[in-house]
Amino acid sequence: MNVSMEKQPRMTETVQSAPRGQEAAEQPAVQVSNLGKSFGAVEVLRDIELEISTGEVITLIGPSGSGKSTLIRCMNLLETPSSGTLQVMGETLVQDGKILPKRSQLQEFRAKVGMVFQSFNLFPHLSALENISLAQVHTLGRRRAEADERSAQLLDSVGLGQRMNHMPAHLSGGQQQRVAIARALAMDPDVMLFDEPTSAIDPELRVEVLKVMRDLAQSGMTMAIVTHELKFARMISDQVLFLADGTIVERGTPDELFGAPQHERTHQFLAAIEETKL
Ligand SMILES: Nc1ncnc2c1ncn2[C@@H]1O[C@H](COP(=O)(O)OP(=O)(O)OP(=O)(O)O)[C@@H](O)[C@H]1O
Ligand SMILES: [Mg+2]
Repeated sequence: MNVSMEKQPRMTETVQSAPRGQEAAEQPAVQVSNLGKSFGAVEVLRDIELEISTGEVITLIGPSGSGKSTLIRCMNLLETPSSGTLQVMGETLVQDGKILPKRSQLQEFRAKVGMVFQSFNLFPHLSALENISLAQVHTLGRRRAEADERSAQLLDSVGLGQRMNHMPAHLSGGQQQRVAIARALAMDPDVMLFDEPTSAIDPELRVEVLKVMRDLAQSGMTMAIVTHELKFARMISDQVLFLADGTIVERGTPDELFGAPQHERTHQFLAAIEETKL
């Protein structure tokens, strides 16, 4: 992988996140307290406590089925937590397992918490530019020309300025994912969530997506990332959380978690990943 493994100072200008108010810096961007989630009788998350400060990057790692996707989906209410509290940018969205905003307010909230999935979910009949402009017009009420201008600027910033009019079928997986990232950024989100953004992409094309994410982190965007790219997680994260069986087993800085894991379960997971590389 050619993404520099140096954790660099923030604030490069390549990909811009939205400016934030002064007051936002004083409270966590995301606060999750005592969160639980069950599907029917099956409890898949319990006692989840986590805080993401404004401008912080956290990564969630852990074995398959540990609840990583469910947790990140709870953060933008794609899943409704069964219990606990969720606050985003100071607003309480879930209290004691109940969603507080009205249904009509949810779309606006989701725009503020961008989500990038493993599958890119672009509209196949729209060009890269049109994919990015669509929600700007429909959700934010931007004029078409203004939306297109912003889309073009974002496509440029993710290295796709020459491919604005390409249809998704004529773009590689890595390019499609960069369009999907630009689409989320077009809503001027406060927080960006990523669920295994590179796992459906050919290895040699992943690096371009990882570079865009690195630039975004360095611009000061608040990010939560589920990933199996441990080298990338080590490079980009302020905080790494290891989940197993629906709980956060261990958390720390990348050096703490990868360099000196305290729990046997974390050891086992990291050793298993190392082995698969042999
Ligand atoms: N909609 C659902 N209905 C029922 N069970 C679900 C649903 N979504 C997830 N689960 C279960 O919740 C548990 C956690 O799943 P989740 O997808 O969050 O794990 P994960 O850590 O993201 O795994 P992976 O690394 O494979 O993506 C699993 O046992 C899964 O089968
Ligand atoms: Mg998952």
